[in-house]
Amino acid sequence: MADADGRIVLVNREIERMFGYGREELLGQPIEMLVPMRSRGAHPGFRGEFLRDPRARSMGAGRDLYGVRKDGVEVPVEIGLTPVPTESGVFVLGAVVDITTRRRHEDEQRALTEQLRQAQKLEAVGTLAGGIAHDFNNLLGGILGYAELISFASAPGSPTRRDADEILAIAARGRSLVERILTFSRRQEARRQPMELNGVVTEIHQLLRASLPADIELVVRVPHALPRVMADGTSVHQILMNLAMNSAHAMPRGGRLEIAAQPLYVRDSVARANPGLREGAYVSLEVRDSGTGMPEETKRRAFEPFFTTKATGEGTGLGLAMVHGIMRDHQGAVLLESELGHGTVVRCLFPTIESEESGAGQIELIDAPEGRGQLVLLVDDEPSLLEVGRRRLERLGYRVRSAPSPQQALALLDDPDFDPDLLITDFSMPIMSGVELATRVTATRKELPVILLTGFIDDIAETILASAGIHQVLRKPVTISELATACAHELARKPAQ
Ligand SMILES: Nc1ncnc2c1ncn2[C@@H]1O[C@H](COP(=O)(O)OP(=O)(O)OP(=O)(O)O)[C@@H](O)[C@H]1O
Ligand SMILES: [Mg+2]
Repeated sequence: MADADGRIVLVNREIERMFGYGREELLGQPIEMLVPMRSRGAHPGFRGEFLRDPRARSMGAGRDLYGVRKDGVEVPVEIGLTPVPTESGVFVLGAVVDITTRRRHEDEQRALTEQLRQAQKLEAVGTLAGGIAHDFNNLLGGILGYAELISFASAPGSPTRRDADEILAIAARGRSLVERILTFSRRQEARRQPMELNGVVTEIHQLLRASLPADIELVVRVPHALPRVMADGTSVHQILMNLAMNSAHAMPRGGRLEIAAQPLYVRDSVARANPGLREGAYVSLEVRDSGTGMPEETKRRAFEPFFTTKATGEGTGLGLAMVHGIMRDHQGAVLLESELGHGTVVRCLFPTIESEESGAGQIELIDAPEGRGQLVLLVDDEPSLLEVGRRRLERLGYRVRSAPSPQQALALLDDPDFDPDLLITDFSMPIMSGVELATRVTATRKELPVILLTGFIDDIAETILASAGIHQVLRKPVTISELATACAHELARKPAQ
């Protein structure tokens, strides 16, 4: 409650909690202290208006209102105002409701609606294009047939023969265009079979190495073994060629193109934000480039059939639409990450085949070891976890040195001949935390990658992690595939010696 001069005379617990001030810090202060700086100037005017016509109403009707907390953070609020006449003048009672959660739900709802709209649009354009392509294909059949007849009927080398052959060549180009359109508009179940994606990636590697310009560095990362997926090899081939071509186009002055395949577990939280995804185990096929990246508008429309930013004749705008269609047929999804000036990553997620041992789609087991005998220093104060960790890492093909405390890890590291390739440490340990340990270690061994294991509730600020040299945090319980992926990823960061 505030008096006629706008000084706070009464607050309850909820206001203290919402704004982060203690009661004594608020009482007697101008109510403007709770108003964001940009609206502060106008606020006394609004108060004056209210007092000239004091009746219960909501504040700032039609505008988004914010309060500002003691720590400077703004809170979206709704405020109801009620005049309270007393012998010593009119007081104003303000009921403030924090609507942060509601706002967030509204934002999520909007994002989902937008995604649905996009999906429906793709579907509609796909159906339309598919229908046209189908009819057009029949016309092309006629054109090809008659051109062939003319070609056969005319003397070899004659002008008629040449013209007819020209028609044949053009019609053949038309047919391959129609085929591309049909690929994304028609669901093809046919030729899918259980396969590992490594094979196709290796094939593509050779093909691309020969065809990419020399100033594009090609890197291919695939583990020895991957969980199997139901896929059609030719389609996967098409996906990779299209993505690689897009990347090459986005790097006219050279750059780095990386193709990788890795197992990936999609958590429910991620699945809910991406239509077409379900919680479960996937193999992610990724094409990453250091090219131009995409502006927002392009990113939003990239999967639309016929959307292209390329000059006429250079792009038909079907590449990503096709990738999208193929992934939909594979019950998978495509995720696009791109930032203008910072390159692009396209991830194609293929659901893995549920094998009997692994139960509900969970990949706990990776067939072949990922490691090649690299030395891991493992630190955990819990003996049983230390033992389990050591055995898992050894199964993945690493050598392991375990330390039951940060102090013992530091003692090991005092020996200059002890040269681990990776440090994996628990976060919460008595006397010294995993972050402190990492900070001490990376101060002298800057190149040593660190993986931090944290409990469910530990929430460590990004900046603290970065200054400790930690780039990878795994939340316990960690599955063996997460561990395998994290190790491989971190070791790949370490410069080769
Ligand atoms: N790796 C990438 N980096 C930057 N922009 C990209 C990348 N991939 C796609 N794009 C943008 O998305 C648009 C659509 O891509 P898509 O592959 O569907 O069509 P296209 O490459 O233009 O034509 P087509 O693949 O049919 O020859 C491109 O025109 C380009 O603007
Ligand atoms: Mg393309």
